[in-house]
Amino acid sequence: MPIGEGASHSATPQATPAAEFPPIAALRSDFIWGVSTSSFQIEGATREDGRGPSVWDTYGWAGQTTSKDTGDVACDHYHRYREDIAVMQRLGIQAYRFSVAWPRVLPQGRGQPNELGLAFYDRLIDAVLAAGIEPWLCLFHWDLPQALDDLGGWTTRDIVAWFADYAALVASRYGDRVKRFATFNEPSIFTLFGYGFGGGKRDTTGVESLHRAIHHVNLAHGAAVDAVRARVAGSSMGAIHNYQPCIPSTPADGEAAVRGDLYWNRAYPDPQCLGVYPEMLQAAIEPHMQAGDLERIQRPIDWFGLNHYSPVFMKADAAARLGFTFGDRPPGTPLTPINWPILPDAFRDTLLTVAKDYRLPVYVMENGLGGYDKPDESGAIADDNRIAFLRAYIGAMNAAAAGGADIRGYFVWSLLDNFEWDAGYRVRFGLTYVDYATQARTPKASFHWYCDLIKAARGRT
Ligand code: FCB
Repeated sequence: MPIGEGASHSATPQATPAAEFPPIAALRSDFIWGVSTSSFQIEGATREDGRGPSVWDTYGWAGQTTSKDTGDVACDHYHRYREDIAVMQRLGIQAYRFSVAWPRVLPQGRGQPNELGLAFYDRLIDAVLAAGIEPWLCLFHWDLPQALDDLGGWTTRDIVAWFADYAALVASRYGDRVKRFATFNEPSIFTLFGYGFGGGKRDTTGVESLHRAIHHVNLAHGAAVDAVRARVAGSSMGAIHNYQPCIPSTPADGEAAVRGDLYWNRAYPDPQCLGVYPEMLQAAIEPHMQAGDLERIQRPIDWFGLNHYSPVFMKADAAARLGFTFGDRPPGTPLTPINWPILPDAFRDTLLTVAKDYRLPVYVMENGLGGYDKPDESGAIADDNRIAFLRAYIGAMNAAAAGGADIRGYFVWSLLDNFEWDAGYRVRFGLTYVDYATQARTPKASFHWYCDLIKAARGRT
C-alpha cells in the first residue's frame, strides 16, 4: 500500500513519483472514466429564473451550516457550465454525472413546471453531448424543494407520487438524450442526518420519522424506476449508495457496528435489489408498510452505484437515538486532511461485497480526497496527497476486479471544488481548483494525473 503507515493528519505519501499509475490491467477495456458533481454544490443562481428554494437554501439562509456558507453562488455553474464542460473535455472523461435540482424544474416540488429551469438542463445536456461526453443524470442529490419539506418531506407517503411525477417530467424532457439515470444519491446519509441522529429539522417524531423516511425513499426509488423506464427507450438505471464497512471502535462495540451497518449500508440496497428489509429493521418498518410495497420497491435496475471514501468506525452510545455513534479510529490510521481514514483495502473489500451481495454491475460513482488545497506562489496546486489517494484507491478497485467483482466505471468526486455541505467552501474535493472570489478554474496536479491515467487506460488494446 503506497500510503504512508502511521502518517500524520496531512498524510502526503512520498514513496512514489506523482506520475506513477496504479495497476489497471484487470479493468474492462470498455471501462468508463468520469467525474461527478451535484446541482446544489455547484450551480448557484438559487433565486434565478424561477427556481424555488430547497431545504439546503433554508439551512444556509438561516445560518445553520457550520461554515455559515450558502449555496447562493457556489461555482456559478448555472452561468459557467460551458466553461466547465470545456474543463471536462480537457480532462478527457467519457462520462459526467450531475444532478437535476428538483426545485429548479418544479419550484413548488409539484404542479407547474418551470420552463426556464428545464431549459437550463437542455442546454447543459446538449453541450455535454456535443463535447462527446455521456451525461449521467441523478434525480435527487439532497436539494428537496422546501415546499415539500413543509408538507412533511420524506416522512409523508405522498412524496412517493410527487417524486414519481418529478421523475416522469425529467424523463420525458431529457430521455431522448440521456439514457443513464440514478434515482437517489446516498439515501442513508440524507435520512440519517436529516431524521436519524437528532437535530434534523423534521425529526419531531424521533426515530419513527427515520423509519418512515427510509420506507418512503425506497418506494420513491421504485416508482421513479418505473416512471423513467416507461418514458426512456434504452434506459440504464440504478441508485447510488454510500456503502462503507462499519467497524467497531473497540471490541465492545460489535453490536453498535452491526446496527450502524444496518442503517448506513443495508436499509436501501437490500429492499431495492433483494426485495427484503434486513431482518433487524423489519419490525420498525412494518407499521409503515402496505401490501405490495416490497414489489413496488424492488423494480429491475441495471447497476449498483457505489460511493466510497473510507470505512466508518462505530461505537455504542446508549444516549444516541439509534444506539450507535461515531467512534475513534485505531491510532496511526492514515487520514486525509479532513481526517477521513485512508484505507484502500476497505474499498476493495466493499466492491467485492456489493458485487456479490447485490449481483449487479457496479459503477463507482464517487471517490476522492477532501483537503484545504491552496495555490503555491506560482499559482500551481500540487495536490500530491490526492494523487496518492486516487492511485491507491484505483489500485484497490483493480484488485477487486481481479477478484471477480464486475466493475464497469469510476467517477471521481469531484470535477470542481464546491459547496461541501455543512463544511461549505473551505473543504475542497475538486480536481480543479475554484477561486471563489474570481470564479477562475485552475486544474490541480491531480487533474493532469487523472487525464494521463484515462489516456493510458483508454489506449490499452
Ligand atoms: C458524498 C456526497 C457528495 C460529496 C462527497 C464528499 O457523501 O454525495 O455530495 O459531498 O460526499
